[in-house]
Amino acid sequence: MAKKNKKTSKKKSNGKPKNNKSQETASLNTILTGDCIEMMQALPEGSIDLAFADPPFNIGYKYDVYDDRKTVDDYLEWSKQWMTEVHRLLKDDGAFWLAIGDDFAAELKILAHQLGFHSRNWVIWYYTFGVHCESKFTRSHTHLLYFVKNPKEFTFNRDAVAVPSARQLVYNDKRANPKGRVPDDTWILRPQDCQDGFNPDENCWYFPRVAGTFKERAGFHGCQMPEQLLGRIIRCCSRAGETVFDPFSGSASTSVVAKKLHRNFLTMELSEEYAEKGQERIDAVQPGDPLDGAEDPKLSAPVTYPVDGRGKQLSKATDKPMTDKQLKESFESELIAAFAEAHEGYSVDRLVLDPKLNQAFLDSCLRKSLEGTPLDLNRYLFRLRKSGKIKSAGIETEKRTSYSWDELDKYFDAAEIAWKLTVDEHRVSLDDLYCDPVLAAEFDRTAAQFAPGFQSIDYRWAALTVRKQSKLARSRSEKIARDRNSTKIETGKPIKLEKLDLEDCDSNPGLYVIQSGKKQLYVGETLNLKERLDRSFFGKKSGKNAWRKQGNSLKIAFPSINIQSKSTSHVANELLGYQSFIIAEHTPKLNALNQVVS
Ligand SMILES: C[S@@+](CC[C@H](N)C(=O)[O-])C[C@H]1O[C@@H](n2cnc3c(N)ncnc32)[C@H](O)[C@@H]1O
Repeated sequence: MAKKNKKTSKKKSNGKPKNNKSQETASLNTILTGDCIEMMQALPEGSIDLAFADPPFNIGYKYDVYDDRKTVDDYLEWSKQWMTEVHRLLKDDGAFWLAIGDDFAAELKILAHQLGFHSRNWVIWYYTFGVHCESKFTRSHTHLLYFVKNPKEFTFNRDAVAVPSARQLVYNDKRANPKGRVPDDTWILRPQDCQDGFNPDENCWYFPRVAGTFKERAGFHGCQMPEQLLGRIIRCCSRAGETVFDPFSGSASTSVVAKKLHRNFLTMELSEEYAEKGQERIDAVQPGDPLDGAEDPKLSAPVTYPVDGRGKQLSKATDKPMTDKQLKESFESELIAAFAEAHEGYSVDRLVLDPKLNQAFLDSCLRKSLEGTPLDLNRYLFRLRKSGKIKSAGIETEKRTSYSWDELDKYFDAAEIAWKLTVDEHRVSLDDLYCDPVLAAEFDRTAAQFAPGFQSIDYRWAALTVRKQSKLARSRSEKIARDRNSTKIETGKPIKLEKLDLEDCDSNPGLYVIQSGKKQLYVGETLNLKERLDRSFFGKKSGKNAWRKQGNSLKIAFPSINIQSKSTSHVANELLGYQSFIIAEHTPKLNALNQVVS
């Protein structure tokens, strides 16, 4: 591998900014808020040593302000504009790293060449904890394209990222090449089980994605890059005192790492909220602080089983390979022990749905070196519960999670709608939604838009209750159909929502139908119509903005129904029966009640 190391030819760094252009200096070591293309245009040419860009991938990811669904032509044109500016800003011996998904890796690589970049490496970042997909392979890698402006002059600090070779470590071979070994080109599912692959000196890297449960996670941005990955790039392609630039700051990972590694940084972010929180993250670290995360995650992650020096599988006690049955039993008993440590007397449902308890459970799994994503571990726990193995392990789940119907009524609709929208988008079951902390958090955010102000567990428990009630609701709906001889319920004349006077609504139980134009969006049931409509459409902190995104000129109609019962739980059950009946008739877009397969 030919490497041009300019280390000796560059002036020694003194740890201070080396540029003398006032425009750039003014922006150094801070996040500029706004559109990066416009802001880059205002910066002087040749002022950056290293650029790292992790742009939106144009895959419909939900950002705070940026809309990640451009047409292909628009996305390529936009990419051309910002990459042109990056090329202009880079010094002649500067480097540019581009993080990009499968969807546009090829196009952007060609574009980079057209703009005058020279390619040095196409690195694959393989990660664990990708968002699980049901109908295609789960995303588990990102492309890291490494370019330079001048193929003959660039910084490549191989010593800063070098690792001892296997020849040195394993065979103690004096002829070992300290520069590492030839990269492999192999598919592999578990890097930590592959003793010879995914080494830091190869172009297929393994770092876990910064998942929801990780200590490193800043918590406000779903695309946070691992510090160790950025550390490798920044150490290798820049030196102390130089300027590292990132046009798409996100959670400010690049700048945090640059600061820790004594580099200057310059970064930009469209979202004011991300910029503000990113700045807090930067302010919280100091030059010289260690980078978060394990430096070599392959070595820090446990293997599934002990191995001998040649990678052969051994059991701890006997040095004989463990059977699949033994592996399964030991995994299950450890998982049950992790549940016992974390559940605080609550059920499996509560532990998976409650973010605090779930975090404690996943932490306990980590301490026990149990392998798997949070989704895998939670799913397996559900499976153990269903097979009765939690009960037969003698674990007491004496604490009940109980919500009154009146309490649930405040966000029952929001939970049902968030459930429907999240599963429609990701094609997952409700159980998998709960088991995957990233999806569960997305569900919470959606529910909070329709009924702001409640806890994650409230929304999640409400959706679980909708599911639990669905069977009964459908059997009641069938009874209603029999009693009415299948005659449909008139939904009533729709009126424009803005024309509805809340004072005309009573505080009784009832049904309502929301439609946009002629299309029915949602059939709601509530114990208190006036309060529900106030919470959804009228109050100061209502869900009206979320509703507006669902359709124009919203209308509401009130089906006339006859509720006989007196006790709240019976009324709630009757309402759900009617709701199910009308859903079956009109299949509104946002109801989930009738979709449950029993
Ligand atoms: C994939 S994220 C970057 C994540 C980042 N690497 C991290 O570790 O957190 C892309 C970011 O670019 C921002 N963005 C999108 N368009 C932008 C623009 N024109 N100017 C500046 N920032 C933009 C988005 O708001 C988003 O936060």
